[in-house]
Amino acid sequence: MSQVLSKLQQHAATDFLPLLGTDYVEFYVGNAKQAAHFYKTAFGFQSLAYAGPETGVKDRASYAVRQNKLTFVFTTALRANNPIADHIYKHGDGVKVLALLVDDAEKAWNETTQRGASSCMEPQRQKDDFGEVVQSGIHTYGETVHLFIERKNYKGAFLPGFKIWESTYNPVSTGLLYVDHCVGNVGWNQMGKWVQFYEEVMGFKNILSFDDKDISTEYSALMSKVMSNGNGYVKFPINEPAEGKKKSQVEEYLDYYDGEGCQHVALATNNIIETVTALQNRGVEFLKVPGSYYEDLLDRVGVIDEDLEPLRDLGILVDRDEEGYLLQIFTKPVEDRPTLFFEIIQRKGAKSFGKGNFKALFEAIEREQEKRGNL
Ligand code: FE2
Repeated sequence: MSQVLSKLQQHAATDFLPLLGTDYVEFYVGNAKQAAHFYKTAFGFQSLAYAGPETGVKDRASYAVRQNKLTFVFTTALRANNPIADHIYKHGDGVKVLALLVDDAEKAWNETTQRGASSCMEPQRQKDDFGEVVQSGIHTYGETVHLFIERKNYKGAFLPGFKIWESTYNPVSTGLLYVDHCVGNVGWNQMGKWVQFYEEVMGFKNILSFDDKDISTEYSALMSKVMSNGNGYVKFPINEPAEGKKKSQVEEYLDYYDGEGCQHVALATNNIIETVTALQNRGVEFLKVPGSYYEDLLDRVGVIDEDLEPLRDLGILVDRDEEGYLLQIFTKPVEDRPTLFFEIIQRKGAKSFGKGNFKALFEAIEREQEKRGNL
């Protein structure tokens, strides 16, 4: 049995914060209406729910979209001089909330705040015609928060305060299924602090580590530790910059996001060739590795089910660990600042994160950094 699996199994028995998965990811953005349109058009999400002045919410507009088990919410401020507007002014578009599905949101809040978490929302019950949702929340790195969502007594489309958003414009799915992991970028020498936070406050375990020897090309060094909850449904790798010849990609993020925040969200698919073909056809831009990456690919990863040609044409990367292999590809940043991007991942047994691809990938990132004059 793999090290990763046995660590998770040992851990599941004593879990004080049982998480059922990611409930939703909320982005604070400059224009929520247009962001929702972009994610529907380019990524294949469907309209789900809306909250704003028309539903009695005065300070913001929020659009929830869904694709399979993935729910994204895009929120913007309707006026200046409030926390949402300030967040967008400082950070640009980015992830504000990584919401986690729980059976008991009050217990989740009690367990984590007793262990030192700083509260951002005391447990609150909200009711409407469709039942009751209990929410609570704590701060994590930067201005990012985790909300605990208990919806076992709720039958509505999304959350109280939202109404169903019916749309005649519903582009078909691109096959994206659920959140595989969400990566946080933290400041110099801060990785240890956040590893300890996820261990002590949320009961996560460190299942994999990469130091700067694993992850340095000539320039773009970083260190990373992967934190996982007990059942492995929720995984948060934490990156910090490392010294290199020139500027680390994590440092570039920290400069432009003006602080710590979510670097990428990895979205799972069962057919990465079909998904990435659809995403590219709809205008999503991906990082490209040189064609030479594919020349000795099969020597490195052994036999795989997929044909090499579509992988090379699309720029999909492959890596193998002791349990199987994975296929992955990374978008370019999805906003003007070089901050948040997405990973598309298909796991075929592998539970790791594509360490074998780091060098080729980071060289591709550096070529983009250089174009921006930030290397
Ligand atoms: Fe990733």
